[in-house]
Amino acid sequence: MGGPSLRQLHAHHAIHEGGLSGAVDKTEEVFELLRAGEFEVARQAADHLVDYWVTRVLSHADAEEEGFYEEMAGDDPELKIAVVKLTRDHDILRMIIADIKTMLAEEGLTPEVMQQFQALMVVNAIHSREEERLLLGGGH
Ligand SMILES: [Fe+2]
Ligand SMILES: [Fe+2]
Repeated sequence: MGGPSLRQLHAHHAIHEGGLSGAVDKTEEVFELLRAGEFEVARQAADHLVDYWVTRVLSHADAEEEGFYEEMAGDDPELKIAVVKLTRDHDILRMIIADIKTMLAEEGLTPEVMQQFQALMVVNAIHSREEERLLLGGGH
């Protein structure tokens, strides 16, 4: 991968924003279903939310690691370190999602699972901001 859109700040930022806002909306939906006492439907929505993270956000991370990061770093030692850090962020997202899958399978949709969904949004937002700043000259 690593098409031109990943290399352009505005297009790449739009991918980040789209991914996060979908997650925010879907997480809020799960909270509302829980508040309404719709536990079965909330559980289904939580499963969809996991799928959303995998297909929208982790797939974007995978694509970045399949060439884009190396391409952006080139031979610059500082950028190479930045890429290692950003890849670790991806790993943390992958770990939280794996934990959520285990927790959902073993305990169902607990408050701890909802905390992990919120943690994902925080880590992802910081990661996206740093990625734009370090590799694409984004502000902040
Ligand atoms: Fe990323
Ligand atoms: Fe990205």
